[in-house]
Formats: sequence, structure tokens, C-alpha cells
Amino acid sequence: VRIDVLFGATGVAPSEVAGRVVVVIDVLRASSTIATALANGARAVIPLESPEDVVKRAKSFERADVKLAGERKMLPIAGFDLGNSPLEFTREAVEGKTVLLTTTNGTATIMAAAGARDLIVGSYVNFSAVLSMARTALRGGTSVAVICAGSELQFSLEDAACAGRFASHALRGLADIGTNDAAEASMEIDLRYGDEISRVFEASTHGRALRGAGFANDLIACAKVDSHPAIPVYQDRQITKLGPERER
Ligand code: MLT
Repeated sequence: VRIDVLFGATGVAPSEVAGRVVVVIDVLRASSTIATALANGARAVIPLESPEDVVKRAKSFERADVKLAGERKMLPIAGFDLGNSPLEFTREAVEGKTVLLTTTNGTATIMAAAGARDLIVGSYVNFSAVLSMARTALRGGTSVAVICAGSELQFSLEDAACAGRFASHALRGLADIGTNDAAEASMEIDLRYGDEISRVFEASTHGRALRGAGFANDLIACAKVDSHPAIPVYQDRQITKLGPERER
């Protein structure tokens, strides 16, 4: 039984996710946004590759039932209802709605990992809820892979730190769980920055870019550990909240 950390959607081979519980992380900001949307009552989030796919998919819904959402180069897409800022995904905006979401790295990474036994979307805002799924898997003899979406196909510090935190907390009190070098390195990164999550955002390229683009408040929102304790599960091409209405 193992917990491994993998970097980037393109590095994920089907054999690395098959039979595993997989946690996909894009802390800034797609996975934080998805957890926030579902915690605030969105019916589902459907990840899609491109803005064109979002527009096409919206045609199969009543207009009032969907929110078109996403970003390119961090900014909202023209004509869409919402960008990719978790602060926009309020209960008022998303309750009962299906969110059609396209983002630069996060949504593609989720779609690339679709061969997993269970695919969960993790971030700091739903950390403990997702961690409990990972620990249950390890205790039951199922390996876990934590996939960092990264930024523009590159390593990103904030995803590695969050992955390291998942790995170290998941391993607590459990013996004989294997780890890869990326998991070991990620745990060191998490230790280096510690509990004040904003420190890792201040040091990261994408964190600084978001601040520069006027999204400083998103950094505060994405650093709030356990503020939106939903477990987003990707199945049948959509992400829904694991809960009483969807027991597994
Ligand atoms: C992504 O999916 O690439 C990110 O969430 C980008 C962003 O910060 O909007």
C-alpha cells in the first residue's frame, strides 16, 4: 500500500491511478473553487476542456440551471457568469445550479485522472474531509495518489505543499505505507512553510501572479483550512459532493 505524489496531468499514466484513490490538487485556484461551489450547494461541477466546450454543453441545460464559469490567464472568460475566484461561488450564486467549469490546468488534470477507483478534489479549504477519505483508503489496503495540477505544466510550490500535508497527515499512525520521492519532497516543503498557508502563497509564482492580477482576496480564501468541508467526487464526468444524498 502506498501514497505517492505525482506532478502534472501529462505525467499521469493510467497505471498510476488505476485502482487507487486519487486526490487532485490545484490549490490556486480550481480545486479550492470546486470545493467552495459544492459546499455552497452547487448541484454539480462539470469540468470541461475549453470555453467552447462550456458553451456547447450549456445548450443541453435550461439556461437558469447552469452557471458558465472559468478562467484563462486567471481572468474571467467573456460572456461567462463566473470566473475562477472561489469568492464568486457564493450560495446565492450557485445553490442548486450545475457549474460548467474550464480552467487552464485544474480541470484538465481532473479529466486526465479519470481512470482512478475514486477521484477526489482536494485543497486546503476541504483538507480534513478529503484527508479522512485518504486515510480510510490506506487503512483498507487501497493505495492513494495525490496529483498536483501545477501551473502551465510546471511544478507549483503551493500544490506540492498541500500534497505534502495530505501525505504526512495520511501517514500518521500507519505503518508500512510506501512513498515515492515526490511525496517525501512534498512533505519537506509543507514542513518548511508550516501552518501559515499564506506564506507558501507569498513564495509561489502563481500566488504572486494572482496577487499582481488583483486576486489577493482569493489567496486569503484559499488559505482557510477546512472552511468548505465538502468531499468533491468526480464520477460520470461530473463532480458532486459526497454526502447523505450520495453515499458510496
Ligand atoms: C488553473 O486551473 O490553472 C488555475 O486554477 C488557474 C487560476 O488561478 O485561475
